[in-house]
Amino acid sequence: MKDILQELESRRTVARAGGGEKRVAAQHGKGKLTARERIELLLDEGSFEEFDMFVAHRCTDFGMEKERPPGDGVVTGWGTVNGRMVYVFAQDFTVFGGSVSETHGAKICKIMDMAIQNGAPVIGINDSGGARIQEGVGSLAAYGEVFQRNVMASGVVPQISLIMGPCAGGAVYSPAMTDFIFMVKDSSYMFVTGPDVVKTVTNEQVTAEELGGATTHTRKSSVADGAFENDVEALAETRRLIDFLPLNNREKAPVRPFFDDPARVEMSLDTLVPDNPNQPYDMKELIAKIADEGDFFEIQRDFAGNIITGFIRIEGQSVGVVANQPMVLAGCLDIDSSRKAARFVRFCDAFEIPILTLVDVPGFLPGVSQEYGGVIKHGAKLLFAYAEATVPKVTVLTRKTYGGAYVVMSSKHLRGDFNYAWPTAEVAVMGAKGAVEILYRSELGDPDKIAQRVKDYEDRFANPFVAAEKGFIDEVIMPHSTRRRVARAFAALRSKKLANPWKKHDNIPL
Ligand code: HXC
Repeated sequence: MKDILQELESRRTVARAGGGEKRVAAQHGKGKLTARERIELLLDEGSFEEFDMFVAHRCTDFGMEKERPPGDGVVTGWGTVNGRMVYVFAQDFTVFGGSVSETHGAKICKIMDMAIQNGAPVIGINDSGGARIQEGVGSLAAYGEVFQRNVMASGVVPQISLIMGPCAGGAVYSPAMTDFIFMVKDSSYMFVTGPDVVKTVTNEQVTAEELGGATTHTRKSSVADGAFENDVEALAETRRLIDFLPLNNREKAPVRPFFDDPARVEMSLDTLVPDNPNQPYDMKELIAKIADEGDFFEIQRDFAGNIITGFIRIEGQSVGVVANQPMVLAGCLDIDSSRKAARFVRFCDAFEIPILTLVDVPGFLPGVSQEYGGVIKHGAKLLFAYAEATVPKVTVLTRKTYGGAYVVMSSKHLRGDFNYAWPTAEVAVMGAKGAVEILYRSELGDPDKIAQRVKDYEDRFANPFVAAEKGFIDEVIMPHSTRRRVARAFAALRSKKLANPWKKHDNIPL
């Protein structure tokens, strides 16, 4: 009996050693942690339960039968993050470069199936040389099985991908179908074809970092939602994100203890909007002042800064925030900001996270490149996302909101539940100057007359009261009481029930 117990321990020791000391040292030498070290940091201490530690590949080509390391290059299982269950897989680069074989893929599929069945998020830690070259189509099939599960899990359980090493070729499409992608600066990359192929085909010369590093994907492509300095920071921030999210689409997000008065008054907000309508201000200040303890988890911070997306808590409850940022491109909507916000709104709606929308938007960005780039379709994504969302929606207009952008930004007409405006808000088809130039073209040669026309237009429309008279604004509120009003609005919506008509699925303008 003792021998059998010892055998288990010695087999476990072999499995835990991964690809051996030399390869582990090489991994550390690149500033990367091993798969097991990553899982240890991600999960609550001692909570990890491993599956399939002894699974080995079945390949007999290229002499592979002589080397069958237990675990086959991926560590899978479940554990908890602040006491809440998650499933996790971490590719082990020290074993065959973390490459995906049939059995490696089957291990990932097993925990994905369990996550969907039991309603808990999947966190995938990617660090892999891609398809196991020795296995050929068997490995491609394994990817296909994972992809199918990514799609089945989408909108059912949150899926988070951490890119902590290579992720190339078709392998990128699994993370691409998950809800959030976080990368580590200087040690991770994602691309469909690497620098060598790019050089051969297009004669462009780029490094792996330039082509698909964390900076590229968080600033240029928007493939990734966040970039972190190292593995430890990425794992710690993933824990923080998980705390904002429900475990699945049938549960509410967790309510956390809060130590911040929901009725907190912020007198400084009364002067947040500058007197000069062309002067910007930082919308993040308003977000911080509404949030419990000023805590804000931003998504896609480095992309399309003219719109801000992320999570806060109000009275301990998770709220998704979408806000125009007057500091960048005057807060206008364009292709990038529409796509960014639309995806975020849809995530919140899929997982029953209420949405707070803070509006100061001069309209859609004009320009040939915007039109050629399809701003019509991309802008429609955000409109569509808000219109189909059935979660509680609270909107606060701080300053201008013109034209189509007024309607898009969670207006009353798209089933906004509480639509508040500050006294500084202006709801109109366009700004006064633009309107007068169209309405009174024949008077353009007379500056005095035009100035009077602009003043008349401003007196009539540069306020929230025309919209309030029509009931499109539910209430004009004092800026200093925004947190209290928003908190009460979300509290009043806790038992909101709204369903869209039955359909197989919608046809969002992709
Ligand atoms: C089998 C692999 C492997 C792979 C790496 N290894 N990639 N084994 N299949 N795909 C092994 C290496 O043989 C080596 O084994 C160990 O992992 C570490 O690899 P190194 O090359 O020494 O590491 P490094 O210098 O850091 O380079 C990492 C790398 C490189 C850039 C990822 O290994 C590489 O280019 N690998 C091939 C990548 C690739 O072309 N994959 C297929 C992509 S197509 P030892 O025993 O020496 O430690 C694809 C399609 C997916 O993935 C389609 C889905 C539908």
